[in-house]
Amino acid sequence: MKFGTYLNGQYSEAANYYDLINPYNDKVIAEVADGTVKEMERAINAAYKAFQTMKKMPAVDRAASLFKAAELLNEKKEEFAKLITAEAGKPITASRAEVDRSVQTLQFSGEEAKKIGGEYIPMDAAVGGAGRDAYTIFEPIGVIGAITPFNFPLNLVVHKVGPAIASGNSIVVKPAEKTPLTALKLAELFTKAGLPDGALNVVPGDGATLVKVLLEDERVQKISFTGSPAVGKEIKNKAGLKRMTLELGSNSALYVDASVSDKLAEVVDKSVAGAFAYNGQVCIHTQRIYVHEKIADEFLKQFVEKTKQLTFGDPLEESTIVTGMINKKSQQRVLEWVKEAVEGGADLLTGGEKQENGILPTVLTNVKETDKVACEEVFGPVVIINRVESSEEALELMNDSQYGLNAGVFTNNLKQSMLFAHELEVGQVLINDVPTLRFDHMPYGGVKSSGYGHEGVKYAIREMTRMKMISLNYSF
Ligand code: SIN
Repeated sequence: MKFGTYLNGQYSEAANYYDLINPYNDKVIAEVADGTVKEMERAINAAYKAFQTMKKMPAVDRAASLFKAAELLNEKKEEFAKLITAEAGKPITASRAEVDRSVQTLQFSGEEAKKIGGEYIPMDAAVGGAGRDAYTIFEPIGVIGAITPFNFPLNLVVHKVGPAIASGNSIVVKPAEKTPLTALKLAELFTKAGLPDGALNVVPGDGATLVKVLLEDERVQKISFTGSPAVGKEIKNKAGLKRMTLELGSNSALYVDASVSDKLAEVVDKSVAGAFAYNGQVCIHTQRIYVHEKIADEFLKQFVEKTKQLTFGDPLEESTIVTGMINKKSQQRVLEWVKEAVEGGADLLTGGEKQENGILPTVLTNVKETDKVACEEVFGPVVIINRVESSEEALELMNDSQYGLNAGVFTNNLKQSMLFAHELEVGQVLINDVPTLRFDHMPYGGVKSSGYGHEGVKYAIREMTRMKMISLNYSF
């Protein structure tokens, strides 16, 4: 199968192609356009032209195309899930869950399209302001450039496309090189849903080449990027006056207080799921767990037992929870970081070794906070579990991070939960949940090296529109 770029509501023959490889079995899935500067320019031209239509399209019609896209996606759930599994190596059950989430994200986008409204400004509150009615409206800004990662090849594309369409913008997506097919198929589906040609364009290919074009073209008004902090910082430095949303990484932390000892089995289940979701290749995977020393032995015992029960295997198998990593380079890096921690005195309780092209789920304890597995984003199936003497110590360690995306706290103590809620330096605090939790309508954004700006449809729309004030002097 050969996939060109998706421009103006259809596939276009590309100048160059690359082989897209299934990360689990190394088989070639398809030949995909390796976009050129010219092709990206054509995509921006198409998007700019479509913007002239999109900005005038009534909210009800924008909503209708989003609802229709949601319906079509739901009908093709299995096809999309298999595609995600093929290109991202994601366990099939997790891929299905991602499609379900994406359907909801599109529905939220359709709902929000109808709610974009401003406010009445009481001009007579100012001396000399009487005799006027004024209000604000929110206008679309133009062409949005979306740069998306491999780990949620559908839902993280939808998180940019949905709000862009809902608010009357047009968009050019540069999907991850590893996972372009899902984005291309999504674009096809939007055309079937009646979206004007050119409103959604997809140009797969090399990030450095294509992102440069997006950054240098003044018609691109905003860049929405999800990916690594290093690339995010580089993009930001070159973005000039463009608006930016940067969803970068994290080494998300969780505190488990002794007050939840009666629910430990449940807490362990949630924590294991959070630690090893899609092999830890999730920005908010539970990477650091701080457990109160009173319950630490029991927590560790149950956690390791549960971890050992996770099935490693082919991502297409229904029972598979942990599988191969996205590439050998990541596998190698994660193994090296684990080795560094163990050599530095950490105890390896399970895992830490290669299995096919992945790594067995790995649990480390007594890890130094300066080890990479603790202080960097591991983006692999590794969790560190350290004991703490108090909630204050946990809070300090959780905040001692360059990142700040999601954080979780399990506690039965109201005062303690409010302290964490206010003192944690993160974008989202999740009391009695693991940090690996995101519903698609909630605001989602980081602080520190985790980036800035928000996703979560309503909040993304704010960042894709500009406020205009209109005053009517009726005493004139
Ligand atoms: C991410 O990994 O950036 C997103 C996580 C999610 O949407 O669940």
